[in-house]
Amino acid sequence: MRILAIETSCDDTAIALVEATGSISSPKFKILKSVISSQIEVHRPWGGVVPNLAKREHIKNLPEIFRQIFKLQFSNNNFQINSKSKAPKIDAVAVTVGPGLEPALWAGITFAKQVWQNLKSQNSNLKIIGVNHLEGHLYSFLLSDGLKTKNSKLKTLFPAVALIVSGGHTILLKMDSLTKWNMLGETRDDAVGESFDKVAKMLGFPYPGGPEIQKLAEKGNKSAISFPSPMLGTKDYNFSYSGLKTSVLYYLRDHNYQHQSSKNQYKSAFVADIAASFQEAALKVLVKKAGRAVNEFDAKSIFLSGGVAANKELREKLKVESKKLKVNFIAPPMNFNTDNAVMIAVAGYMGMLRKKNRKLIANGTMGI
Ligand code: KG4
Ligand code: ZN
Repeated sequence: MRILAIETSCDDTAIALVEATGSISSPKFKILKSVISSQIEVHRPWGGVVPNLAKREHIKNLPEIFRQIFKLQFSNNNFQINSKSKAPKIDAVAVTVGPGLEPALWAGITFAKQVWQNLKSQNSNLKIIGVNHLEGHLYSFLLSDGLKTKNSKLKTLFPAVALIVSGGHTILLKMDSLTKWNMLGETRDDAVGESFDKVAKMLGFPYPGGPEIQKLAEKGNKSAISFPSPMLGTKDYNFSYSGLKTSVLYYLRDHNYQHQSSKNQYKSAFVADIAASFQEAALKVLVKKAGRAVNEFDAKSIFLSGGVAANKELREKLKVESKKLKVNFIAPPMNFNTDNAVMIAVAGYMGMLRKKNRKLIANGTMGI
């Protein structure tokens, strides 16, 4: 089955074309095309993502990327495909319906419906399916190179503990199979990615802050400052990041830190130590709670996904922890951690096999 997937839940406009085969217990995916158009430069002056700007950019980018993928020619507002020979060969359109910024989600949904309606005259079996963005992240471990080389049966990876860490979510799940899971815990306030973004901003670095903090932390001493790791010792599987962010704020205030927009900041040991110490405090809780869940549920694997899964230090820490616990550690390849449409195609295919279609209505707060 060839799936055209569309992702517009936040500030990345993404379209992918994926060939999906196999059953619900052993799905296989081949990425034919994947294009992501980042809006970072548009939102950067505002210090974060502005929903209506995101919507405007998605509306502009979607037909552009669609045209690029299928090498089609039409004006932006009129992409009628009248001849069967020119129609892209697809079997389903998958689109993110939530969670995310509602104006941004609507841009993707409206475009997906237009594509579907347009191509339906050429292929009356063409399906359209609404996808949960978090399921996209969750299933993105299926794209891992490690899975291909291991050639292991997916069944042997379960039960698994899955961490979804992004700009909007910090979720720990127990997965019994590819179709059955339950949430163990989540953040009580800020998401972990959000705390990276906010601390970077305090230090005077641009959005998105995660990659900036990672870069700074590589030059710093992670034991320099002992920032708190909120909820590290609690018996539940929840997280909290707003207190850590506030501790960094107070530390900066106490040290009269005023960021200048100079590149010298990268050379400042003070800033590097703050970044390294903050990162250490933020990641420590994720690793500890994932490890505890492995023990409690006798899990065979840890899956990591979401934008923060791009963090090298987190991947390293979880790799070490998995080795210690003698379980598999599986994370998507580097370009499929932050938002992309390939993961939406994967979740769309799984949704179709599970007969779980979602309404084509934007739902900003949809859970998993
Ligand atoms: O999954 P994603 O692209 O969007 C959401 O669904 O939220 O995640 C974006 C988040 C941002 O907060 C960004 O700062 C963070 O992922 N991020 C990172 C890194 N790369 C992206 N955080 C820490 N280290 C990174 N290398
Ligand atoms: Zn995401």
